[in-house]
Amino acid sequence: MPSFLSSPRARLLLGGALLVVLLSFWKLSESSGSSYLPILKSSKPNAAIFILLAPNRITQALVALQNVEDRFNRRLKYPIILFTAEDEAHFITEDIKAKASHITNGRASFATATKESWDIPAWMDEKRVNSSLETIGFSTGYRAMCRYYSGFFWKNPALVSYEWLWRLDTDIQFHCDVPYDPIEVLISKKALYGFVQVNYDVSWVQPSLASNVSQFLSNNRHLIPADANQHFVWKGDAGVAKAMAGTAGNDDWTGACMYNNFEISHRSVWESSLYTKFFDHLEKAGGFFYERWGDSPVHSYGLAMSLRKDQIVQFDDLGYGLSSSEHIVKFTFGRYQHQGWAYECPKLDRCACIEDDDTRDFNNNGDAWFKPTM
Ligand SMILES: *[C@@H]1O[C@H](CO)[C@@H](O)[C@H](O)[C@H]1NC(C)=O
Ligand SMILES: *[C@@H]1O[C@H](CO)[C@@H](O)[C@H](O)[C@H]1NC(C)=O
Repeated sequence: MPSFLSSPRARLLLGGALLVVLLSFWKLSESSGSSYLPILKSSKPNAAIFILLAPNRITQALVALQNVEDRFNRRLKYPIILFTAEDEAHFITEDIKAKASHITNGRASFATATKESWDIPAWMDEKRVNSSLETIGFSTGYRAMCRYYSGFFWKNPALVSYEWLWRLDTDIQFHCDVPYDPIEVLISKKALYGFVQVNYDVSWVQPSLASNVSQFLSNNRHLIPADANQHFVWKGDAGVAKAMAGTAGNDDWTGACMYNNFEISHRSVWESSLYTKFFDHLEKAGGFFYERWGDSPVHSYGLAMSLRKDQIVQFDDLGYGLSSSEHIVKFTFGRYQHQGWAYECPKLDRCACIEDDDTRDFNNNGDAWFKPTM
């Protein structure tokens, strides 16, 4: 024994072993401690901003990043994760990484959506997918994106460690300095979800989404809180009653969506057993590829059945819009993508936007749905 300990190599080994034992005790006490010690609120929310990039939108994404940094994130300093589909990761060159890093002071990183969360599931009927691409349109890439946001993004390894998930798209624009931290606002109001604009989606791209949601509701009545904000998505008491009875369809749907190109969510809303079951139901029905079920209506249906109106905040003074709606893009089906200057241009002294006559009076009626006092 003494001769063993007298060798320097043995002492080093013993010391190393002791250190490992000590470290594992420390780890153990750290993890078991959190179950009974009060959770200490860190000064900064555990949050990340993330953006999904299509290869033809990389320049647009860099412009958006610059805008985000200028308007708030140089101050708030949230990490930014830029996603691509796995098959498109090679579009992200070293040059693009360097530019993103320069713009964000090193806070940007890149990640990929897993194949499981992106590709058309193997069990699907390819013929049926193909024929719907012809009748309804929208690419498989677009549909994969809608499915990814509906059921997968919060599970991505690059996001799993974050509690708050702040989604932005590449074509967004903050017209004004953001005067506060929206995530702090959600925390202080005990809310779990925040957005800016109400937008209306159309039914012809998702002919059987409403009826599938209604079928789910009637099969799972016992899981739906009585005070959920269901009137946002179903027309009046009659619409909600039909939805809960499993007989509602698109005619009973308001079409209203919380436009989620700006979306801050607490991961618990997606991880709840209700939303998990809801997404599974929709996934099995197959409408993400047999039709073009949008992630914005899917989120809106899911949140309307899960949350009270006071658990959702509409940020109506951020000065935010899609840059593609700058000049009023009128969709072919007759709706303005513009949501009105009340949201896009709220306080001229901190904004770079000018009110426009055509849209000044546009009112998306968001107060009726998301102001708890009304
Ligand atoms: C579906 O369309 C793709 C692309 O056009 C084609 O390669 C594939 O063979 C089609 N599948 C079926 C079952 O028709
Ligand atoms: C649900 O959606 C699928 C896929 O579009 C469709 O085949 C099915 O008929 C729908 N079910 C209901 C109850 O609407």
